[in-house]
This record gives sequence, C-alpha cells and structure tokens, in this order.
Amino acid sequence: MNKTILCIGAGYVGGPTMAVIADKCPEYKVIVADINAARIAGWQSDRLPIYEPGLEEVVKRVRGRNLFFTTDIFGSIKEAGMIFVSVNTPTKTFGAGAGKAADLQFWEKTARDIIEYSEDDKIVIEKSTLPVRTAAAMQRILSSNTKGLKFEVVSNPEFMAEGTAVDDLQNPDRVLIGGMETPSGAAAIQRVVDIYLHWVPRERIKTTNLWSSELSKLAANAMLAQRVSSVNSLSALCEATDANISEVSAAMGLDSRIGGKFLKAGVGFGGSCFKKDILNLVYLCEFYGLPEVAAYWEQVVRINDYQQSRFVGKMVRQMFNTIADKRIAIFGFAFKADTGDTRESPAIHICRLLLAEHARLAIHDPQALANARIDLAGAEGVEYCSDPYEAARGAHAIAVLTDWREFRELDYRKIFDEMAQPAFIFDGRNLLDHAALYELGFNVYPLGRRALSHLE
Ligand code: UDX
Repeated sequence: MNKTILCIGAGYVGGPTMAVIADKCPEYKVIVADINAARIAGWQSDRLPIYEPGLEEVVKRVRGRNLFFTTDIFGSIKEAGMIFVSVNTPTKTFGAGAGKAADLQFWEKTARDIIEYSEDDKIVIEKSTLPVRTAAAMQRILSSNTKGLKFEVVSNPEFMAEGTAVDDLQNPDRVLIGGMETPSGAAAIQRVVDIYLHWVPRERIKTTNLWSSELSKLAANAMLAQRVSSVNSLSALCEATDANISEVSAAMGLDSRIGGKFLKAGVGFGGSCFKKDILNLVYLCEFYGLPEVAAYWEQVVRINDYQQSRFVGKMVRQMFNTIADKRIAIFGFAFKADTGDTRESPAIHICRLLLAEHARLAIHDPQALANARIDLAGAEGVEYCSDPYEAARGAHAIAVLTDWREFRELDYRKIFDEMAQPAFIFDGRNLLDHAALYELGFNVYPLGRRALSHLE
C-alpha cells in the first residue's frame, strides 16, 4: 500500500495538520506542496511562515525525517497515494453568489492537476471548508478522467482554532471523515481512519456520508458564531440597563445545557472561518429555496457588524461627539489573542470607521502589525507602534480590540500621565481591571457593563 501522503496547500491548515500527521505516523512519508515558493522556503527555514504555539517543535522534529516541503506539486501528485487538498476557498467576489458563495477555482484547478499528473488510483481528501455538495462536483471532475483511473473523494474537515492549532490536532474533540456510501468509499474512509487511529481514540473518530461531514463543519462554526452574536446582542441591552454582561454570561453558562464557552461579549468575532462559513450556509439555504433559514443565519453576521459600529458610536458620543484630529491608541489588531492573523478582524472595520470620523490612529499589536499595515494600506493618519507606551503617548483614548494578556500588565499610571486629558479607555474585550483604571483617573467604558466615568 502506498504510504505517501501529499497535502496541496501549505497554509494555516495544511502546514500544522501535516506536521502532526508526520509526527504521529512515522511510517508514512508526508509531503506538503504549494505553488508559493516563498511560503515553502519559509516552512524549510528557521522562521516558519505561521506562528502557532508548539508548532516549531513538531516541525523541527519531523522535517527531513518524514515531512517534506516542496513546490513540485506535479511530481508529488504522481508519488502520493492519498492527497489532502487544502487550498484556499475565499468568498466569491464576482458573479453568482458574490459575497457569499465559496470561490472554487483553486479547488477545480487542483482537481484537474491531480487527473493530469496521476498514474494510479488515489484517495483525494477535502480539507478546505467547502459548501456542501462540492465533493460531488469533485467526484465528477475526477471521474471524468480518460486514463481509466479511480479517485475516491473523502471529506475530512478541520476543526482547529488558531493559537491552539497544534493542541487541537493532537487532542481533537472529534475527527470527522465522510465518504461515498459504496464499498470503495468505505475502503477509502478506512484508509483515512487508519491515519488518525495512530493517536485519536476510535470513539472520537466519526464516519459519516460526504454531505453530513461537509455540512457539520459549517454548522459547528455557525453555532459558535451564533453564541458570540447572541451574547453581543445582549451586551447592548446590558449597557442600556444596569445589567452586567459578564454576570449574565456567567449565570447562563452555569446551565449545563448551555455551557460556559463562547459567551464572552466583545467587539465581535473575526478570523478566517466564522463569517465565511455562515455566508456559505446562507448561500446554500438560498440556493435550496429556504429564504427564512438563510435570513436567520445572516442575522448572526449582521449583529457582528452592528457590534462594531455600536462600539465606535459609543466612542464618538462619549468623547464629546467628535474625534476629528484626536489621537486614538488601538491596543490589539489581531482577531484574537495569541495570533498575528488579522483576517476578518473586527479591528479592521473599527479602525476604518474611526478614520472616517477623521481620528488619527496609533496601532499597537504584539504580533499583527505587519498584517495591520497591509489591511489598512493607503489609509492616512495611521501610525504603527511596536511599543504600547508610544502608541498611547498624547492619545485622547485607548481602544482595546484584542484580548492580549500582556495589555493587563502595562503600567497604566505612566500611560495615564502621558495621555491627553480627560483620558478614555474603551475596553472592547473587558480585559482590564476597570476599577483600578478608574482610580488612576481614566474614564472607563467596558463592554456590556456600566461605565466608570469622572465626567458625569
Ligand atoms: C474557529 C473555530 O473555533 C474552529 O473550530 C474552526 O475550525 C475555525 O474557526 P478561529 O477562527 O481560530 O477558530 O477562532 P476562535 O477561537 O473560534 O474565535 C473566533 C472569534 O470569536 C474570535 O474573534 C474571538 O475573539 C471571538 N470570540 C470567541 C468572542 O468574541 N467571544 C467568545 O466567547 C469566543
């Protein structure tokens, strides 16, 4: 049996997943291929192209042993028996379904490459998030080959969150493997199950049909995002009343049927998956003639946008209805702590809204400044500061947009003394010690809780 595994796409998903597979399955040869030479060079170097706690250790252990990075996609296709496809499926920006449906051109191109360069039968494993029934399209393209080859398509969605990717891979809640309900489909599923059995208990490996597996990925992310939007919608009500969203979340979360996770109010969810997956779900519902269901899920995204504009609206209102030409320090640009990733980060939208009010921004983030520069390229009035004290110096307000723990450790007395007065803190993640900041003289605006202001 061919024990060479190829992964096409060396991004956030492909790189860490293959590193862990190579680590746990020493008798397999694992190849990660990508057309992007700079990215491959990164994976071969001492400075990996992505930061994930624990990743470097795993990669260093297996690289050159049974994990290899290459730009030779065609040669690797020929060699491998199983091919994971982890190319990006961004949201379509054009044509039918623009703004919602997934753009599948990279996927289709990969399928055609697989046909062209294969010399024997292979299992093709879908690892990117794709709308339900894409695997059927894949199966059709692959079976249209005129070489007499047989390809089995398997869906194996990833459930790793950034910042905990390696741990999520090593100790997954569940592994989903979906395939065709035929004897050859079952055999293909089993080949993939065998890989995971090296380290995942059998009862956590769920095998399903293709469509369930694909839809479960979208459904899980939509349900998680819905919790965040639900709690964020309630945070607005808490601010209007005298309730405290942290207390409400804690009380709700104690109900074992609800559970405590993903109930933290904030400036909204970001990241590469949530919005994209929900919009995919919305598109699918519309496509299948279910407008009510589509509208229901679309509202989850709308509340997320609302939470961000609501946050900016509050800043402007509290700062005497004008922030034009005021310096505002932005603490945190990444979509969550422990990552440099800024895809769909609420900070992007919030900063743009602040700039539209003619504020001047001084952005600090421990990992995400390089991405922030790209996201706000061309915007005027933005400074990027590697030092938080420099960002806050002379600022009228600080807006905390990412839950980086180190923001708690800063010397806020020093920061207060160097800020314009009256000094404001808008804590979009309820991260800081609000009572202590108020004592120092700050006017503190938490999220979903009563403000602590010296001005009223
Ligand atoms: C997510 C899913 O968790 C993962 O299973 C999936 O495969 C990919 O998408 P990720 O995007 O890395 O992972 O981030 P996650 O930790 O899930 O957080 C998503 C967003 O929700 C972040 O912006 C986070 O700040 C926000 N969030 C999360 C809240 O605002 N409140 C919470 O209580 C939890």
